[in-house]
Amino acid sequence: MIRPRRNRRTPAIRELVREITLSSSDLILPMFVHEDGEDVPIVAMPGVTRWSIDGLVREAGEAHALGIAAVVLFPKIEDALKSSDAAECHNAQGLIPRAIAALKVAHPGLCVITDIALDPYNADGHDGLVQRDEGGEVKILNDETVEVLCQQAICHARAGADIVAPSDMMDGRVGEIRNALDMEGFSEVSIISYTAKYASALYGPFRGALDSAPKDGDKKTYQMDPANSIEALRETLLDEAEGADILMVKPASYYLDVISKMREHTTLPVAAYQVSGEYLMIKAAAQSGWLDERAVIMESLISIKRAGASMILSYFAKDVAKWLRC
Ligand code: PBG
Repeated sequence: MIRPRRNRRTPAIRELVREITLSSSDLILPMFVHEDGEDVPIVAMPGVTRWSIDGLVREAGEAHALGIAAVVLFPKIEDALKSSDAAECHNAQGLIPRAIAALKVAHPGLCVITDIALDPYNADGHDGLVQRDEGGEVKILNDETVEVLCQQAICHARAGADIVAPSDMMDGRVGEIRNALDMEGFSEVSIISYTAKYASALYGPFRGALDSAPKDGDKKTYQMDPANSIEALRETLLDEAEGADILMVKPASYYLDVISKMREHTTLPVAAYQVSGEYLMIKAAAQSGWLDERAVIMESLISIKRAGASMILSYFAKDVAKWLRC
């Protein structure tokens, strides 16, 4: 008789037949940084810290020592530095360039990824430049935004970033950023494109952490409709043609079908971002004693990998890297 259970009989056999394994080198740790000298726990995201530059360097070093290959940086910018043209985003002496430089000095082998978008830098909280019509209706300017994103990418590359990750969803930005980097001599700096970034309610805690929620309107004119997956393939074809090195789907767990589809339609590596809301759903249930935290986290990451992601951005990255050691 054919008995599939034979392949599940012992731990050794189960290991032999296992299709997917998770390793710490699959994980990318998102990290928050601010100008203060103190490391401050983020109330809206228990277990996550907004680091000083010194704290960031220390924590990234620990993560790297645990086998995590990369970190991605998100800044909390002081209100006084926010402006409608988001000029702080390409200030060579700004928070992110200094954080990149400090990380590369301390941990040259750690891959440093930066977020390319304007929301931490303009008081509007939108990823692009905002134009208001007479009725106060907001419009997010595409091509004007892309010009600023190119300056931001060059600024990060100059500071030593290995990879820039445009998360803004403006049209044509990957191609323009690629050109701008190449023209400035940064042809070796990679682009991870947020190819399919959905207008998701799961970003709420992140926006609280950075005080970057949009003041007016929402992000639905640039982030994708959660109802669409074929459109993700359209974005895939464009990002490939424009020269992206890695494609990303965000959020991850509610969009496993999108990850799979993208995996089937591209030869590029696919990344997935387990976002703040996904983190908190697990965290909150675990803190209430309703779920087994470690088991659920491992299952969530395995399923994202099984869907087709070769790398996962996760706030759990350091915990998981520790668990994978023992
Ligand atoms: C903004 C950005 C967001 C996240 C990463 N980059 C929020 C947004 O688009 O509003 C969300 C990450 C998370 O929720 O963990 N460029």
